[in-house]
Amino acid sequence: MTIFENHSLLPYNTFGIAAKARYFSPIGSLEQLDACISRNKKSFQLPLLILGGGSNLLFTQDFNGWVIKNEIKGIELVREDEGYYYIKAMAGENWHGLVMHCVAKNYAGLENLSLIPGNVGASPMQNIGAYGVEVKDVFFELEAYHIADRRVIKFSATDCSFGYRESVFKRALKNQFIILSVTYQLRKVPVFQTSYGAIEKELEAMHVTTPSVKAISDAVIRIRSSKLPDPAVIGNAGSFFKNPVIDVTQYDRLKKAFAGIPGYAQANTVKVPAGWLIEQCGWKGYRQGDAGCYNKQALVLVNYGHATGAEIFDLSSSIIQSVEQKFGILLEREVNII
Ligand code: FAD
Ligand code: EPU
Repeated sequence: MTIFENHSLLPYNTFGIAAKARYFSPIGSLEQLDACISRNKKSFQLPLLILGGGSNLLFTQDFNGWVIKNEIKGIELVREDEGYYYIKAMAGENWHGLVMHCVAKNYAGLENLSLIPGNVGASPMQNIGAYGVEVKDVFFELEAYHIADRRVIKFSATDCSFGYRESVFKRALKNQFIILSVTYQLRKVPVFQTSYGAIEKELEAMHVTTPSVKAISDAVIRIRSSKLPDPAVIGNAGSFFKNPVIDVTQYDRLKKAFAGIPGYAQANTVKVPAGWLIEQCGWKGYRQGDAGCYNKQALVLVNYGHATGAEIFDLSSSIIQSVEQKFGILLEREVNII
């Protein structure tokens, strides 16, 4: 195990924030992870931060603790039955790399989740989702290391309590487990999800008449590339806020005052696109210093170069305040604030 001291986190977060960690260790095996935890218990006793690809967090200050970067690798077909392949991927695998692996083999289910940054280990943390599919739809089980007991435990989908950008690991079991591997259940006969967003239109533009796992993945990649900023060029962590879910009566009231307000009906509730609310408040394309609200997607806050995490955070607070004033809706941050 290697321990770096006072280590720059700049290369390890897609927001491109120049924060530092008191200690930093990349780990490539369960044994190395266990050695870190044991050492922390015996001597350091510091707060821990488990890092994947750093694409869903914002450092607002230096991290006075131990950052453990999970680099445990491996993808394996562990089982198959009549309907499914069971693919076990280790937490340190790149997410899009896993999706591409499955698309190439025609294992169906992950194609709508193409091009999401980050690693496998974080995928169940917030039940990543895009274009009508969430990880919970293809999840079979995961293995996680219990920090207090230093034991590995299996979690079923039910154990994970998945919700919209939610899981038990963000709530009741926060900071208690380190996800080691995730097994996904992927279909042999695809069931395509093309109804969401612009997928059908994009397939048409690509002259695809019969959808395939590969064609849907390509369409999703094209749509995402056209509206989301590439973190290698402009720092960001994807959607900064969750889309708020409000009750039908509140939505109907808002509809009277703001006729154009979009909403997606769910059971007794309506999901309202936060990007629309933010745009209506005039933030889209706003920039102060190097902190800004992306000009093609208002839900994405960006770092044009040297913004600090505190500046991005302050901008997010101003956005929350103005959306609440105009619409009476309290936006919740989706990005993990450190
Ligand atoms: P990190 O940012 O490293 O970590 C996120 C959180 O999970 C932290 O709290 C961290 O401590 C914890 N964590 C990470 N790994 C582990 C582990 N092994 N065990 C325990 N805890 C862990 N998300 C979507 O859902 N849908 C999208 O469409 C989407 N689009 C995006 C587009 C862009 C351009 C960007 C930059 C981000 C986007 N995101 C999206 C957000 C992000 O990619 C996902 O949340 C992703 O799963 C984060 O993975 P990561 O490895 O980078 O996690
Ligand atoms: N909109 C605007 N102005 C904007 C942006 C959006 O009016 O500047 C409105 C439009 O009405 C548009 C609607 O919002 O039709 C939805 O926009 P989009 O399809 O871009 O999706 P989103 O709701 O903004 C969500 C996820 C994304 C995911 C996409 C596609 C959340 C918080 N975000 O964004 O996930 O990729 O749908 O499924 O649920 C992420 O979590 O980081 C992320 C990028």
